[in-house]
Amino acid sequence: MTEPSERKEQPTHPSEPPRRRRAHTRSRDLERYADLFARRTQVMRSSAMRDLMAITARPEVISLAGGLPDTSTFPADSFAAQMTRIAHESSAEALQYGPTEGFEETKACILEVMGAEGMAPDPEDLIVTTGGQQAIDLIAKTLVNPGDPVICEAPTYPGAVPAFCSYEADIHQVSTDDEGMRIDELEDLLAALATAGRRPKFIYSVPSFQNPAGVTMSEERRRRLVELAREHEVLICEDNPYGLLRYEGDPQPTLYSLDGGDYVLYLGTLSKILSPGIRIGWVAAPPPVLEKIGLGKQAADLCTSTLTQYFVREYFAEGRWREYIDDLIGIYRARRDAMLDALAANFPEQAEWTHPEGGLFVWATLPDYIDTTDLLAKALRENVAFVPGRAAYVDGRGGSSMRLNFSASAEEELAEGIRRIGSVVSEQVALYETITGEHPTKSGSSRPGPDEEEEPGGEVVPLPKR
Ligand SMILES: Cc1ncc(COP(=O)(O)O)c(C=O)c1O
Repeated sequence: MTEPSERKEQPTHPSEPPRRRRAHTRSRDLERYADLFARRTQVMRSSAMRDLMAITARPEVISLAGGLPDTSTFPADSFAAQMTRIAHESSAEALQYGPTEGFEETKACILEVMGAEGMAPDPEDLIVTTGGQQAIDLIAKTLVNPGDPVICEAPTYPGAVPAFCSYEADIHQVSTDDEGMRIDELEDLLAALATAGRRPKFIYSVPSFQNPAGVTMSEERRRRLVELAREHEVLICEDNPYGLLRYEGDPQPTLYSLDGGDYVLYLGTLSKILSPGIRIGWVAAPPPVLEKIGLGKQAADLCTSTLTQYFVREYFAEGRWREYIDDLIGIYRARRDAMLDALAANFPEQAEWTHPEGGLFVWATLPDYIDTTDLLAKALRENVAFVPGRAAYVDGRGGSSMRLNFSASAEEELAEGIRRIGSVVSEQVALYETITGEHPTKSGSSRPGPDEEEEPGGEVVPLPKR
């Protein structure tokens, strides 16, 4: 493409050829390229967390916005020894392309991880992916035509929304409560879609320590979900990055183990139990589905990083991977407790939050009149960040909720971060109460203000329903 506005600039040395300087204003002009974009780019959306990462990278900001594991806990000596061994013993192979489905040795490590949660798939049913995120993208690429219904939880993993939108899925969200996805609501939705002659392509769920809500699906609901998938012949996409990070309570069976691998596509990742930088995830799926996913992966990136697959092989051979997870569990449990204590101490009584038994997140919900997207701007002025709840919905819900991450900050930082958010929340509550004269309580009823007398039979204005 010729660049009419390119100008020749004088060389700084007579022996240098004239340099071309690009006219940045033209190349940044959207209209120039607008007609070239595919239709799907109109529905592509950015992940709220990715947008926030630039702001929260500032050292003065306490970020409760990321979903980052604390990689500083990984022993540097062990990392150095493994990489050195690879360099000396397998340099040529580790720097080469690898098979699209991943190395057998990587699959053996994945089998160990899945075995720890009671699953034993055939290695032939596995494909290694570039993180769990690629697995989500490949599943959507394989199954979704524009307009196809896809069902997920409300709230759902904010990073899944852009992937489903890219393939123009018609996303339906089913509410969650303390026991995970509301199966009664799911049944109604499946029935309504069936009546309309529409078959959802899959039900996407993060059943354990969900991102973003931190809740875990009860065993009863898991069993019913798997039954429903069979009855309606709908696939389930079980995304389980956090299952091994349990801080209390008893493990729940995975959907994959309950189903036996007919209707459940299982997504795993080493991001939260080893490192997200190595980008190693996987899918376990029935062979016909896996074959198509493999074709999609060939087109996307040929193969997952060979070098990091070699690292994984070395790391698992050392035999300490379970111990490292135990270390993480100890650290994250203390951080979760620090966050829950800080919430109780600093958030007003009108707020509610989840009590996660594992994973990395707490989900807090404020009174309806507080919009957490607006609140984030105020929080950033206090150098603290969270993910506003709307990022986890496709329909504008979640406006008064926020996702809070506790894995990436030390306990004192968590306490200070929650104190700062608590103070901006309290300001908003006080402002609302001053303007309206209302003093709503958590239950939605109103208590009189300090200067008001409680009149028997006086009008009670309930908080709007969340
Ligand atoms: C539920 C869920 N799925 C998938 C991912 C993507 O993880 P990765 O691509 O690092 O494996 C994440 C990351 O936070 C997640 O929370």
